[in-house]
Order: sequence, then C-alpha cells, then structure tokens
Amino acid sequence: MSKTFYIETFGCQMNAHDSEKVIGTLEHEGYSRVQDEADAGLILYNTCSIRDKAEQKVFHRLNEYKKLQGEGKKFAVIGCVAQQEGEKIFDKAPYVSLVSGSASYRNLPQMLARLEAGEQRITGLDDRQTDETFETPFVARTNPHRGYITIIEGCDKFCAYCVVPYTRGKERSRTANSVLDEAIRMADAGFTEIQLLGQNVNSYHDPSAKMTFAELLAAVGSIPGIRRVRFTTSHPRDFTKDIVDAIDAVPTLCDHVHLPVQSGSTNVLRAMAREYTRDWYLERISWIKAAKRNISITSDIIVGFPGETEEDLEQTATLLEEVGYDAIFAFKYSPRPNTPAINMADSIPEEVKVKRLQILLDRQRETQRLNYERHLGEVMELMVEGHNRQRNQVIGRSTQNKTVNFTTTQPILPATGSYVSVRITQTFPNSLLGEALAS
Ligand code: 5AD
Ligand code: SF4
Repeated sequence: MSKTFYIETFGCQMNAHDSEKVIGTLEHEGYSRVQDEADAGLILYNTCSIRDKAEQKVFHRLNEYKKLQGEGKKFAVIGCVAQQEGEKIFDKAPYVSLVSGSASYRNLPQMLARLEAGEQRITGLDDRQTDETFETPFVARTNPHRGYITIIEGCDKFCAYCVVPYTRGKERSRTANSVLDEAIRMADAGFTEIQLLGQNVNSYHDPSAKMTFAELLAAVGSIPGIRRVRFTTSHPRDFTKDIVDAIDAVPTLCDHVHLPVQSGSTNVLRAMAREYTRDWYLERISWIKAAKRNISITSDIIVGFPGETEEDLEQTATLLEEVGYDAIFAFKYSPRPNTPAINMADSIPEEVKVKRLQILLDRQRETQRLNYERHLGEVMELMVEGHNRQRNQVIGRSTQNKTVNFTTTQPILPATGSYVSVRITQTFPNSLLGEALAS
C-alpha cells in the first residue's frame, strides 16, 4: 500500500476538527495527503449520523468506492456512522479494512500499523466508556488564523432524539493545562482566533480541578496574541451565569452565545428529555441580555418531534420572537437508531414537518431582518475570511459571528486573517454590507 491518503469529512465542527487531528496523526506516521482519491493508497471516510438516513448515504458512497478497490487501495470508515454500524460495515462493504469511532482515535497509530501489515478487519469500537481524550500535538489545521481546540469529548445528556452519546461515548474533559498549552502554541504560531469545542462545553469539568469552564474561557482569552475566543456548543442545563460575567470581563471573548433550545414548548422539552422548561431557558436568556455587551444569541430547533401539536409549534414560534435570535438552525425531527425517541408514538407526517419548518423559518426571517437593520451605520471590527473577486468585495466576520461583505478604497485588499474596521451601509436578514474605514 502506498503511504498516501485521501480523506472525506462530513458532520459538525467536532468531526471537522477530528479530521484535522487524524490528518496530523497520519502525516506524523509518514503518510502524505493527496487531493484526488485516485492517487491515494488509503481512503478515509469520516462520517456523521445526526439526521436523515445517514447510514444509507454512507453505504451508497462506499458502493462508489467499490470501483476503486482493484487498485490495491485500502478503505477506512471512521466517525459516527462507523461507531453506530460497527462490524456490519465489513459485511456490507468487504473491501473496507478499518472501522473506528472517534473514542478510539488515540489508537490510530497502532491501527495503521496493523493495516500496513495486511490485516483485514481492524476495529476501534470498544472505547466509548473511556476517560481518555484524543490529544495529539500533530494537528493539521486548515486555517492558519482561526483554529479549533476540543476541550470536552462525548456527551452524557441522552436527549431522546440524539445519537451522540451512542456514537461519541461518555463525557470526558481535557485538563485546563493541556488546553492552555495548546492555545499558547497556537498563539505562538500566529493564530488570533480560537474556538473551544465540545458537544456540551458548559459541562466542562477540569480533571485537575483547577478551572471552571468560565475560568478556562477567561484564561484562553487572556493569552497574548489571541484576539477572539468562541465556544460551541452550549447546553442550557449547564449554562451558568459566570459565563456571561466572563464575556463582560474579558474583551477577547466574542459577543455570541449559541444556546440550542430545540423547542419552545415545555411539554415537548419534557418528551425530549432536555431537563429544562421554557421558563428555565428564558431565564438564561435574560442573563445574556442583561450583559453590558451586546451578545448575539443563536439556536438550534427541531420541529415535528413525536407528539408535537400545533400549539407546541406556536410556543416555539413565540419563543423565537421573544428571544430575538440572530440565527437559527432548524431541522425536521429525524428518527435515529438506538435513541429512545425512535419508539415514541404520535410520529408527525413528513409533509406536516415540512410545513412547520417553513412556518418557523418565515417568522424567524422577519426577526432577523429587524435585528440586522439595527447595525446600519455601525462601525465594527471584522476578521477577513476571504475575497469575492468578481464583486471586488472582501468577506469578513464580526465578533457576533455575522458575515459582512465590504468594499475598500485601498489599492491592495486586506489579507485573510487581518482585522479591519468597517462601517455598515446596508443590511439583509442574513448578512451585512459595508465600507472599510480609511486607515
Ligand atoms: N433529528 C433532527 N435534528 C436533530 N438534531 C440532533 N438530533 C436530531 C434528530 N434526531 C439537531 C439538534 C442539534 C443539532 C446539532 O442537530 O437541533 O442541536
Ligand atoms: Fe454528526 Fe453528531 Fe457525530 Fe457530529 S457528533 S459527526 S453532528 S453525529
């Protein structure tokens, strides 16, 4: 087998960052990455199983890989579908040699050695009860300015609809020292933005008992050279007021909290096993709104959970209006294997889910139009993310995580990763338009 690899990644930011660590590990083991699967000795497929018949999609894609098998290539399926389907993958796609969930990635070097020795059915599937995290100094970060750090892996919340506790395993945190060492190394390497990651970062428990999550946030934000710190995802159940106090106290912590509510109906929240009520959630929102800084709030919503009534949906719609989110990610409920909700009665027909999703999105659009309108005339600092050469525009991101397209009178466009002050000249429900201030 030639020591070249190709990797394809699906899913959330955790998965994207897992791939950066997997790539770093492979490169450290002497493999080089290629951009065309035809050139690769090893093809890896990092999978997601959060919604929408994900396993079928994986098997469909593996069927396409089948065509490549005669060329001496090896195949590895990793990530959430790998953990969920396990050895069934070998039965359905016998040309696959390695199946591993994320909880086993720290054993990748050994698994790779077995692969090179010609072993056929290598698995990393038995580590979901581990206390260990995947820590590696070898991380192939794709963006040299903004990078992820995992602070907590797994999830113990067991929401009734969610596969994550079954695919990513038990919740386990890294020590604050280890997180801070990595953040300092990143700052030294020129990164200015750090995003702390976990399925539930608010549940962070430093194994060395040195810091709370809010203290860790403040400490990362105080590292010289770091200008922005973000964190995702939060769970309302574990969201504490000291997080808001930290944002108020430490200027580098971004003005944004993503706090998924899932539903505005206490009845649906109970059925989802979210362990909070509408009022409990709104209390956390009131802390965020009481901050001295103008903190942007975003959320995830699920429509069509089993038993959801029109009245429940209306509760969600009014919650969206009451909170005034700057963005929502709304999904139709999708039954997932192994989860308690898969057996719940009163499932909602697909066409009703489609209709309900549209109702929410239409009402949310109006909220966002009004929210974004308030930025007209404001001057904000943006991190440059890229350029739209056709329109001669620069694409930037605000501390509130809003996208701003802007023009500049400077002959040379500002570089990706630089920070620019921009005045907002026009607003839309999802983005802003502006002009760079003359510097
Ligand atoms: N069906 C639909 N949406 C889901 N999510 C998680 N599980 C499901 C499911 N089974 C959504 C939640 C979560 C986001 C990452 O995906 O809103 O916050
Ligand atoms: Fe997909 Fe969830 Fe796994 Fe992320 S943790 S890759 S969203 S299933």
